[in-house]
Amino acid sequence: MLFNVAIDGPAGSGKTSVTFQLAKELGLQYLDTGATYRAATLGCIENNIKSTDEDGCRQMAQQVDVEFNPSDGKQITRFKQRDVSARIRDDDVTARVSEYSAVPVIRHTLVAYQQKISEKGGFIAEGRDIGTVVFKDSPCKIYLSASPEVRAERRAHEIQSKGLHTDKPFQQLKEEILQSITERDFSDSTRTLAPLAIDAHATIFDTSSLTVDEVVAQLKAHIEQTI
Ligand code: C5P
Repeated sequence: MLFNVAIDGPAGSGKTSVTFQLAKELGLQYLDTGATYRAATLGCIENNIKSTDEDGCRQMAQQVDVEFNPSDGKQITRFKQRDVSARIRDDDVTARVSEYSAVPVIRHTLVAYQQKISEKGGFIAEGRDIGTVVFKDSPCKIYLSASPEVRAERRAHEIQSKGLHTDKPFQQLKEEILQSITERDFSDSTRTLAPLAIDAHATIFDTSSLTVDEVVAQLKAHIEQTI
């Protein structure tokens, strides 16, 4: 069986760009598990399902699925067969995703789905509980960290480079993002079920002063050595 690689870390640690690039270089399939929690959250918001409604939350999580574009490996995330890949990045979803991703029935449903699609191996997945839960038997677990200020600054650049919130002064946007990721980190790492945590077998990389290419080069060397 092919191995799976686990990449965990807090919001804005560079996981997405790094994991996607690594997948290409190593010939693995990229999987963004955060997108599945975002899609379930979107379903709950759109259908007025409260996070205390266990049956409703289960039904929403069961309607999430992903597919991969064969030409570039990009993930398409769907809710009820609808492509929600862009919609799930909106602020209303980001503001509530930590609340819904702490709901046990949502986690159980999505973890089972993530494990099923990657059961044959050959995946590199990013998230919060990949090394501790989803790929807990993986021989290769990586935890990416970066200071909250660096993470907020990266996100602010990313957002403005997409032409969003360009009317806001950069510093103000950065401060708002810093507050939002600090709150999200706190909820994600203090929840009871599968909190964001560093697995005992994970190797930690601090990306604060590194470019994406530098992180990719370091991780690629590490993965090739480990496997
Ligand atoms: O990775 P991203 O920032 O898009 O993830 C959005 C949210 O989904 C996280 O803040 C966290 O609450 C949740 N998540 C999770 N477990 C994962 C991936 C994401 O709880 N494996």
